[in-house]
Amino acid sequence: MSKPLQTLFTLSIILITSCYADISNTSTLCPPSFCGNISIQYPFWIKSHTINPSDQLCGYPDFGLECSQDKAIITLPSDTYYVTNIDYDTYSITLVDIDILDQKCPRARKNVTLSNLPLSFSSLDLNLSFYFNCSSYPLSLDPIGCFELSNDEKLKSYVILASDEGEIGYDNWKCEEHVNVIVKSDELNDVVGGLINGFGSAMKKGFVLNWRKAEDCAQCEISGGYCGYNQSTKKSTCICGNGSVVAKSCKKGHGHLSGVVTWALGSVTSV
Ligand SMILES: *[C@@H]1O[C@H](CO)[C@@H](O)[C@H](O)[C@H]1NC(C)=O
Ligand SMILES: *[C@@H]1O[C@H](CO)[C@@H](O)[C@H](O)[C@H]1NC(C)=O
Ligand SMILES: *[C@@H]1O[C@H](CO)[C@@H](O)[C@H](O)[C@H]1NC(C)=O
Ligand SMILES: *[C@@H]1O[C@H](CO)[C@@H](O)[C@H](O)[C@H]1NC(C)=O
Ligand SMILES: *[C@@H]1O[C@H](CO)[C@@H](O)[C@H](O)[C@H]1NC(C)=O
Ligand SMILES: *[C@@H]1O[C@H](CO)[C@@H](O)[C@H](O)[C@H]1NC(C)=O
Ligand SMILES: *[C@@H]1O[C@H](CO)[C@@H](O)[C@H](O)[C@H]1NC(C)=O
Repeated sequence: MSKPLQTLFTLSIILITSCYADISNTSTLCPPSFCGNISIQYPFWIKSHTINPSDQLCGYPDFGLECSQDKAIITLPSDTYYVTNIDYDTYSITLVDIDILDQKCPRARKNVTLSNLPLSFSSLDLNLSFYFNCSSYPLSLDPIGCFELSNDEKLKSYVILASDEGEIGYDNWKCEEHVNVIVKSDELNDVVGGLINGFGSAMKKGFVLNWRKAEDCAQCEISGGYCGYNQSTKKSTCICGNGSVVAKSCKKGHGHLSGVVTWALGSVTSV
Protein backbone atom coordinates (compact mmCIF):
# COMPACT_ATOMS: atom_id res chain seq x y z
CA MET A 1 0.00 0.00 0.00
CA SER A 2 1.29 3.46 -0.84
CA LYS A 3 1.68 5.93 1.99
CA PRO A 4 -1.25 8.24 1.08
CA LEU A 5 -3.54 5.24 0.68
CA GLN A 6 -2.38 3.94 4.01
CA THR A 7 -3.21 7.30 5.58
CA LEU A 8 -6.69 7.20 4.05
CA PHE A 9 -7.16 3.64 5.27
CA THR A 10 -6.11 4.48 8.82
CA LEU A 11 -8.36 7.53 8.78
CA SER A 12 -11.39 5.49 7.76
CA ILE A 13 -10.72 3.05 10.57
CA ILE A 14 -10.56 5.91 13.06
CA LEU A 15 -13.73 7.45 11.66
CA ILE A 16 -15.62 4.17 11.75
CA THR A 17 -14.57 3.23 15.27
CA SER A 18 -15.33 6.68 16.66
CA CYS A 19 -18.84 6.55 15.14
CA TYR A 20 -19.55 3.21 16.76
CA ALA A 21 -18.09 4.23 20.10
CA ASP A 22 -20.54 7.14 20.15
CA ILE A 23 -23.56 4.98 19.59
CA SER A 24 -22.88 2.17 22.04
CA ASN A 25 -23.88 3.88 25.27
CA THR A 26 -27.45 4.87 26.00
CA SER A 27 -27.23 4.77 29.77
CA THR A 28 -26.62 8.48 30.33
CA LEU A 29 -28.67 10.06 27.54
CA CYS A 30 -31.53 7.56 27.55
CA PRO A 31 -31.64 5.97 30.97
CA PRO A 32 -33.51 2.65 31.07
CA SER A 33 -36.54 2.32 33.29
CA PHE A 34 -38.97 -0.38 34.34
CA CYS A 35 -42.67 -0.92 33.84
CA GLY A 36 -43.53 -3.79 36.17
CA ASN A 37 -40.81 -6.30 35.36
CA ILE A 38 -40.32 -5.12 31.76
CA SER A 39 -37.14 -3.17 31.18
CA ILE A 40 -37.88 -0.19 28.92
CA GLN A 41 -34.82 0.98 26.98
CA TYR A 42 -34.05 2.77 23.75
CA PRO A 43 -35.70 2.67 21.21
CA PHE A 44 -38.72 2.22 23.53
CA TRP A 45 -39.75 4.88 26.00
CA ILE A 46 -42.50 5.43 28.53
CA LYS A 47 -45.33 7.85 27.76
CA SER A 48 -46.10 9.69 30.89
CA HIS A 49 -48.89 12.07 31.81
CA THR A 50 -47.16 13.28 34.94
CA ILE A 51 -43.93 14.64 33.49
CA ASN A 52 -43.55 18.05 31.96
CA PRO A 53 -44.78 17.99 28.36
CA SER A 54 -41.70 19.92 27.29
CA ASP A 55 -39.42 17.15 28.57
CA GLN A 56 -37.37 15.46 25.91
CA LEU A 57 -38.04 11.74 25.58
CA CYS A 58 -35.54 9.34 24.11
CA GLY A 59 -36.72 6.69 21.66
CA TYR A 60 -38.51 6.07 18.37
CA PRO A 61 -41.62 8.23 18.00
CA ASP A 62 -43.90 5.19 17.48
CA PHE A 63 -42.36 3.15 20.28
CA GLY A 64 -43.82 5.03 23.24
CA LEU A 65 -45.32 2.64 25.76
CA GLU A 66 -47.98 3.43 28.27
CA CYS A 67 -47.33 2.00 31.70
CA SER A 68 -50.59 1.26 33.46
CA GLN A 69 -50.78 -0.73 36.70
CA ASP A 70 -47.31 -2.09 36.06
CA LYS A 71 -48.29 -3.31 32.60
CA ALA A 72 -46.67 -1.93 29.45
CA ILE A 73 -49.06 -1.12 26.61
CA ILE A 74 -48.25 -0.37 22.97
CA THR A 75 -50.65 1.16 20.47
CA LEU A 76 -50.41 -0.19 16.92
CA PRO A 77 -52.56 1.11 14.05
CA SER A 78 -55.02 -1.75 14.65
CA ASP A 79 -55.36 -1.91 18.41
CA THR A 80 -53.63 -1.75 21.78
CA TYR A 81 -51.61 -4.64 23.15
CA TYR A 82 -49.84 -5.58 26.37
CA VAL A 83 -46.09 -5.84 25.95
CA THR A 84 -45.12 -8.93 27.94
CA ASN A 85 -41.47 -9.14 26.90
CA ILE A 86 -38.81 -7.05 25.17
CA ASP A 87 -35.63 -8.80 24.06
CA TYR A 88 -32.96 -6.22 23.19
CA ASP A 89 -30.56 -8.89 21.92
CA THR A 90 -32.90 -10.35 19.31
CA TYR A 91 -34.80 -7.07 18.66
CA SER A 92 -38.10 -8.73 19.46
CA ILE A 93 -41.18 -7.86 21.50
CA THR A 94 -44.05 -10.09 22.59
CA LEU A 95 -47.55 -8.60 22.40
CA VAL A 96 -50.88 -9.84 23.75
CA ASP A 97 -54.27 -8.57 22.62
CA ILE A 98 -55.68 -6.79 25.70
CA ASP A 99 -59.33 -7.46 24.84
CA ILE A 100 -59.10 -11.23 24.79
CA LEU A 101 -57.19 -11.81 28.01
CA ASP A 102 -60.23 -12.28 30.24
CA GLN A 103 -62.29 -14.17 27.66
CA LYS A 104 -62.74 -17.91 28.16
CA CYS A 105 -63.19 -18.41 24.43
CA PRO A 106 -61.21 -15.55 22.88
CA ARG A 107 -62.89 -13.81 19.97
CA ALA A 108 -60.43 -11.66 18.00
CA ARG A 109 -62.00 -8.52 16.56
CA LYS A 110 -59.22 -7.15 14.41
CA ASN A 111 -56.36 -8.17 12.17
CA VAL A 112 -53.01 -6.98 13.46
CA THR A 113 -51.79 -4.24 11.15
CA LEU A 114 -48.28 -2.84 11.34
CA SER A 115 -48.70 -0.27 8.54
CA ASN A 116 -45.33 1.37 8.00
CA LEU A 117 -44.04 1.06 11.55
CA PRO A 118 -40.50 -0.36 11.72
CA LEU A 119 -41.94 -3.71 12.86
CA SER A 120 -42.41 -7.10 11.23
CA PHE A 121 -43.81 -10.47 12.20
CA SER A 122 -41.31 -12.94 13.61
CA SER A 123 -40.49 -16.34 12.17
CA LEU A 124 -41.66 -17.71 15.54
CA ASP A 125 -45.24 -16.77 14.64
CA LEU A 126 -48.02 -18.74 13.04
CA ASN A 127 -51.01 -17.30 11.21
CA LEU A 128 -54.48 -18.54 12.20
CA SER A 129 -57.55 -17.81 10.16
CA PHE A 130 -60.87 -17.45 11.99
CA TYR A 131 -64.29 -17.52 10.30
CA PHE A 132 -67.05 -16.34 12.60
CA ASN A 133 -70.76 -17.08 12.36
CA CYS A 134 -70.78 -18.96 9.10
CA SER A 135 -74.06 -20.02 7.52
CA SER A 136 -72.35 -21.99 4.75
CA TYR A 137 -69.17 -24.01 5.34
CA PRO A 138 -67.50 -27.31 4.53
CA LEU A 139 -69.02 -30.19 6.49
CA SER A 140 -65.64 -31.88 6.81
CA LEU A 141 -64.43 -29.38 9.41
CA ASP A 142 -65.25 -29.32 13.12
CA PRO A 143 -66.62 -25.98 14.33
CA ILE A 144 -65.20 -24.23 17.38
CA GLY A 145 -67.11 -25.69 20.31
CA CYS A 146 -66.81 -22.88 22.80
CA PHE A 147 -68.63 -20.35 20.57
CA GLU A 148 -71.70 -22.53 20.13
CA LEU A 149 -73.66 -20.94 22.94
CA SER A 150 -75.02 -18.42 20.45
CA ASN A 151 -78.79 -18.80 20.12
CA ASP A 152 -78.67 -19.38 16.39
CA GLU A 153 -77.50 -22.98 16.16
CA LYS A 154 -77.00 -22.79 12.42
CA LEU A 155 -74.18 -20.26 12.68
CA LYS A 156 -70.85 -21.92 13.31
CA SER A 157 -67.31 -20.57 13.69
CA TYR A 158 -64.08 -22.13 12.46
CA VAL A 159 -60.36 -21.79 12.88
CA ILE A 160 -57.75 -23.14 10.47
CA LEU A 161 -54.09 -22.52 9.79
CA ALA A 162 -53.89 -19.67 7.28
CA SER A 163 -51.42 -21.80 5.33
CA ASP A 164 -54.16 -24.46 4.82
CA GLU A 165 -56.70 -22.02 3.41
CA GLY A 166 -55.92 -22.81 -0.19
CA GLU A 167 -56.67 -26.50 0.26
CA ILE A 168 -59.96 -25.99 2.06
CA GLY A 169 -61.44 -23.64 -0.51
CA TYR A 170 -62.87 -21.13 1.93
CA ASP A 171 -64.07 -18.95 -0.93
CA ASN A 172 -67.50 -20.58 -0.84
CA TRP A 173 -68.05 -20.00 2.86
CA LYS A 174 -70.61 -17.46 3.97
CA CYS A 175 -69.41 -16.00 7.23
CA GLU A 176 -70.06 -12.81 9.13
CA GLU A 177 -66.40 -12.09 9.65
CA HIS A 178 -62.92 -13.33 8.80
CA VAL A 179 -60.06 -12.38 11.13
CA ASN A 180 -56.42 -13.46 11.00
CA VAL A 181 -54.77 -13.99 14.36
CA ILE A 182 -51.03 -14.34 14.93
CA VAL A 183 -49.77 -16.69 17.66
CA LYS A 184 -46.43 -18.22 18.61
CA SER A 185 -46.14 -21.53 16.82
CA ASP A 186 -44.55 -23.34 19.77
CA GLU A 187 -47.61 -22.50 21.89
CA LEU A 188 -49.75 -24.48 19.44
CA ASN A 189 -47.38 -27.42 19.19
CA ASP A 190 -47.67 -27.90 22.93
CA VAL A 191 -51.47 -28.05 23.22
CA VAL A 192 -53.50 -31.20 23.53
CA GLY A 193 -56.68 -31.42 21.49
CA GLY A 194 -55.42 -29.47 18.48
CA LEU A 195 -56.25 -26.05 17.17
CA ILE A 196 -59.91 -25.94 18.22
CA ASN A 197 -59.10 -26.45 21.88
CA GLY A 198 -55.69 -24.82 21.91
CA PHE A 199 -56.15 -21.47 20.16
CA GLY A 200 -57.39 -19.74 23.33
CA SER A 201 -54.34 -20.39 25.46
CA ALA A 202 -52.05 -19.71 22.49
CA MET A 203 -53.72 -16.32 21.88
CA LYS A 204 -53.22 -15.40 25.54
CA LYS A 205 -49.47 -16.04 25.17
CA GLY A 206 -49.37 -13.51 22.33
CA PHE A 207 -47.16 -13.14 19.30
CA VAL A 208 -43.69 -11.85 18.51
CA LEU A 209 -42.65 -8.85 16.43
CA ASN A 210 -39.16 -7.81 15.40
CA TRP A 211 -38.16 -4.19 15.21
CA ARG A 212 -35.66 -2.55 12.90
CA LYS A 213 -34.07 0.87 12.68
CA ALA A 214 -36.66 3.55 12.10
CA GLU A 215 -36.08 5.35 8.81
CA ASP A 216 -36.75 8.71 10.42
CA CYS A 217 -34.02 8.02 12.98
CA ALA A 218 -31.31 6.63 10.69
CA GLN A 219 -29.68 9.99 9.97
CA CYS A 220 -29.63 10.86 13.67
CA GLU A 221 -28.20 7.50 14.76
CA ILE A 222 -25.52 7.53 12.05
CA SER A 223 -24.47 10.97 13.31
CA GLY A 224 -23.95 9.48 16.78
CA GLY A 225 -27.23 10.64 18.32
CA TYR A 226 -30.36 9.03 19.65
CA CYS A 227 -33.78 9.62 18.25
CA GLY A 228 -35.94 11.60 20.62
CA TYR A 229 -39.50 12.78 20.82
CA ASN A 230 -40.82 16.15 21.87
CA GLN A 231 -44.19 15.56 23.54
CA SER A 232 -45.43 19.09 23.00
CA THR A 233 -44.59 19.39 19.30
CA LYS A 234 -45.17 15.64 18.74
CA LYS A 235 -42.11 15.58 16.50
CA SER A 236 -39.07 13.38 16.46
CA THR A 237 -35.80 15.03 17.41
CA CYS A 238 -32.18 14.01 17.65
CA ILE A 239 -30.34 13.95 21.00
CA CYS A 240 -26.58 14.40 20.67
CA GLY A 241 -23.75 13.15 22.85
CA ASN A 242 -23.36 16.52 24.57
CA GLY A 243 -27.03 16.41 25.55
CA SER A 244 -28.21 19.07 23.12
CA VAL A 245 -31.33 18.47 21.03
CA VAL A 246 -31.27 19.09 17.28
CA ALA A 247 -33.79 18.46 14.53
CA LYS A 248 -32.19 15.70 12.48
CA SER A 249 -28.49 15.09 12.81
CA CYS A 250 -25.65 15.72 15.26
CA LYS A 251 -23.32 16.49 12.38
CA LYS A 252 -23.79 19.85 10.74
CA GLY A 253 -24.15 19.17 7.01
CA HIS A 254 -21.25 16.98 5.97
CA GLY A 255 -18.67 19.39 7.36
CA HIS A 256 -16.97 17.00 9.75
CA LEU A 257 -16.46 14.18 7.28
CA SER A 258 -15.72 16.21 4.13
CA GLY A 259 -13.07 18.25 5.98
CA VAL A 260 -11.09 15.11 6.75
CA VAL A 261 -11.53 13.72 3.23
CA THR A 262 -10.37 17.00 1.69
CA TRP A 263 -7.35 16.98 3.96
CA ALA A 264 -6.56 13.36 3.09
CA LEU A 265 -6.94 13.98 -0.64
CA GLY A 266 -4.70 17.02 -0.25
CA SER A 267 -1.98 14.84 1.24
CA VAL A 268 -2.43 12.35 -1.63
CA THR A 269 -1.82 15.01 -4.28
CA SER A 270 1.08 16.58 -2.41
CA VAL A 271 3.12 13.35 -2.31
C1 LIG B 1 -21.84 3.62 29.53
O1 LIG B 1 -21.84 4.71 30.46
C2 LIG B 1 -21.90 4.31 31.81
C3 LIG B 1 -22.06 5.53 32.69
O2 LIG B 1 -21.34 6.63 32.18
C4 LIG B 1 -20.65 3.50 32.14
O3 LIG B 1 -20.69 3.07 33.47
C5 LIG B 1 -20.57 2.29 31.22
O4 LIG B 1 -19.39 1.58 31.44
C6 LIG B 1 -20.65 2.72 29.76
N1 LIG B 1 -20.75 1.53 28.91
C7 LIG B 1 -20.11 1.40 27.77
C8 LIG B 1 -20.35 0.15 26.99
O5 LIG B 1 -19.36 2.27 27.35
C1 LIG C 1 -40.16 20.81 22.60
O1 LIG C 1 -40.67 21.75 21.69
C2 LIG C 1 -41.05 22.98 22.29
C3 LIG C 1 -41.71 23.83 21.22
O2 LIG C 1 -40.86 24.00 20.12
C4 LIG C 1 -39.81 23.64 22.88
O3 LIG C 1 -40.19 24.85 23.50
C5 LIG C 1 -39.21 22.71 23.90
O4 LIG C 1 -38.00 23.27 24.38
C6 LIG C 1 -38.90 21.38 23.27
N1 LIG C 1 -38.43 20.48 24.30
C7 LIG C 1 -37.19 20.01 24.30
C8 LIG C 1 -36.82 19.20 25.49
O5 LIG C 1 -36.43 20.20 23.38
C1 LIG D 1 -43.02 -10.64 34.46
O1 LIG D 1 -43.80 -11.19 35.47
C2 LIG D 1 -44.84 -12.03 35.00
C3 LIG D 1 -45.72 -12.43 36.19
O2 LIG D 1 -44.96 -12.62 37.32
C4 LIG D 1 -44.23 -13.25 34.30
O3 LIG D 1 -45.24 -14.09 33.81
C5 LIG D 1 -43.39 -12.74 33.12
O4 LIG D 1 -42.75 -13.81 32.49
C6 LIG D 1 -42.35 -11.73 33.61
N1 LIG D 1 -41.72 -11.15 32.44
C7 LIG D 1 -40.42 -10.93 32.36
C8 LIG D 1 -39.92 -10.31 31.11
O5 LIG D 1 -39.66 -11.22 33.26
C1 LIG E 1 -51.97 -14.21 7.42
O1 LIG E 1 -52.71 -14.81 6.37
C2 LIG E 1 -53.49 -13.89 5.62
C3 LIG E 1 -54.31 -14.67 4.63
O2 LIG E 1 -53.56 -15.68 4.03
C4 LIG E 1 -52.57 -12.89 4.95
O3 LIG E 1 -53.33 -11.94 4.26
C5 LIG E 1 -51.74 -12.20 5.99
O4 LIG E 1 -50.81 -11.34 5.39
C6 LIG E 1 -51.01 -13.20 6.84
N1 LIG E 1 -50.34 -12.50 7.91
C7 LIG E 1 -49.12 -12.86 8.32
C8 LIG E 1 -48.56 -12.06 9.45
O5 LIG E 1 -48.49 -13.77 7.84
C1 LIG F 1 -72.46 -14.71 16.10
O1 LIG F 1 -73.62 -13.87 16.00
C2 LIG F 1 -74.31 -13.71 17.22
C3 LIG F 1 -75.59 -12.93 16.91
O2 LIG F 1 -75.30 -11.74 16.22
C4 LIG F 1 -73.40 -12.99 18.20
O3 LIG F 1 -74.07 -12.82 19.43
C5 LIG F 1 -72.15 -13.82 18.40
O4 LIG F 1 -71.26 -13.12 19.25
C6 LIG F 1 -71.48 -14.13 17.09
N1 LIG F 1 -70.39 -15.05 17.33
C7 LIG F 1 -69.12 -14.79 17.01
C8 LIG F 1 -68.13 -15.83 17.36
O5 LIG F 1 -68.78 -13.74 16.45
C1 LIG G 1 -58.56 -9.63 8.01
O1 LIG G 1 -57.68 -10.03 6.95
C2 LIG G 1 -58.29 -10.97 6.07
C3 LIG G 1 -57.23 -11.48 5.11
O2 LIG G 1 -56.41 -10.47 4.66
C4 LIG G 1 -59.48 -10.28 5.38
O3 LIG G 1 -60.10 -11.20 4.46
C5 LIG G 1 -60.50 -9.84 6.44
O4 LIG G 1 -61.56 -9.15 5.85
C6 LIG G 1 -59.84 -8.98 7.50
N1 LIG G 1 -60.76 -8.81 8.61
C7 LIG G 1 -61.02 -7.64 9.18
C8 LIG G 1 -61.96 -7.66 10.33
O5 LIG G 1 -60.52 -6.60 8.80
C1 LIG H 1 -23.65 19.71 20.87
O1 LIG H 1 -23.39 19.00 19.67
C2 LIG H 1 -24.15 19.43 18.55
C3 LIG H 1 -23.85 18.49 17.39
O2 LIG H 1 -22.50 18.17 17.33
C4 LIG H 1 -23.83 20.87 18.22
O3 LIG H 1 -24.64 21.30 17.12
C5 LIG H 1 -24.16 21.72 19.44
O4 LIG H 1 -23.79 23.06 19.20
C6 LIG H 1 -23.42 21.22 20.68
N1 LIG H 1 -23.93 21.95 21.84
C7 LIG H 1 -23.12 22.34 22.82
C8 LIG H 1 -23.78 23.06 23.93
O5 LIG H 1 -21.93 22.14 22.79
